[in-house]
Amino acid sequence: MIVGILGVGHLAAALVTGLNRAGLPSQSILLSSRGRSRELSERYHIPVCADTAELVRRSDIIVLAVRPHDAAKALEGLTWRVDQVLVSVCAGVSLSALPAAPAQRVRAMPLTAAEINASPTIFFPDIPKARWLIEKFGPAIALRNEREFEVATVNAAIYGWAQVLVRQSAEWCAAQGADGTAMRQLVAQTFVAAGRLIAERDQPMEDLLSELVTPGGITELGLKIMEVGGQPAVWREACEAVLARLTGAAAG
Ligand SMILES: NC(=O)c1ccc[n+]([C@@H]2O[C@H](COP(=O)([O-])OP(=O)(O)OC[C@H]3O[C@@H](n4cnc5c(N)ncnc54)[C@H](OP(=O)(O)O)[C@@H]3O)[C@@H](O)[C@H]2O)c1
Repeated sequence: MIVGILGVGHLAAALVTGLNRAGLPSQSILLSSRGRSRELSERYHIPVCADTAELVRRSDIIVLAVRPHDAAKALEGLTWRVDQVLVSVCAGVSLSALPAAPAQRVRAMPLTAAEINASPTIFFPDIPKARWLIEKFGPAIALRNEREFEVATVNAAIYGWAQVLVRQSAEWCAAQGADGTAMRQLVAQTFVAAGRLIAERDQPMEDLLSELVTPGGITELGLKIMEVGGQPAVWREACEAVLARLTGAAAG
């Protein structure tokens, strides 16, 4: 199976690193010519195609990883086969805006944690070739329709917000005199632990939280202060703004 990457920028670099780490041989990957292709080609000995037509001709799965506003132009004038799959990772670009017939089209939203094979990656529709690829990035989560995919794409922004919270908390601890390196590990691993517990236990999240938020305790104390500061309403507002942007309901 040959995987061609069309659009070699920030996300593509994480995907290529993840594919390499997952054991996909470098001869099974092809890169388009712009962006970071030369750097990645030198690092992983991956061939770079002369043009996009060659990339599509030689690939079984084509990952479209250009900026959303470049997606339509990047696909212009290409010839596709029925056995090929186009996997677009372009946020907010619908399947109908991806002219690649007769190839099958899939949307996916990997996170940069794909580079350590730890990206929970949503995708739609669930096509075996796409699943084969996406499982190399981390846990593959198939969704039921495009509306659900759009809503779940907000999680790509939440991933960034979580990293900001990790940084803010670790830096606060360090500013109080704690060792910065130890605090970075502590806080980051605490977010991993919080996520894993919820992912791996199946009781309602409300029950898991009630075990944590004891009346009069420190967790409750902080939550009350955050509520005064606008939580959870402000978080919901941020999610809604991102969804509106993704669905074209908001400008800017
Ligand atoms: N960054 C993330 O964490 C992330 C996460 C999930 C999804 N995404 C999605 O991934 C896509 C890429 O994001 P990014 O942050 O990686 O952007 P980026 O760093 O700007 O990379 C896009 C690359 O595509 C290249 N490109 C544009 N048109 C091309 C064409 N016709 N042929 C060949 N190459 C072309 C650009 O080359 P030039 O520099 O020469 O223009 C650039 O190197 C976006 O649609 C975004 O929604 C990103």
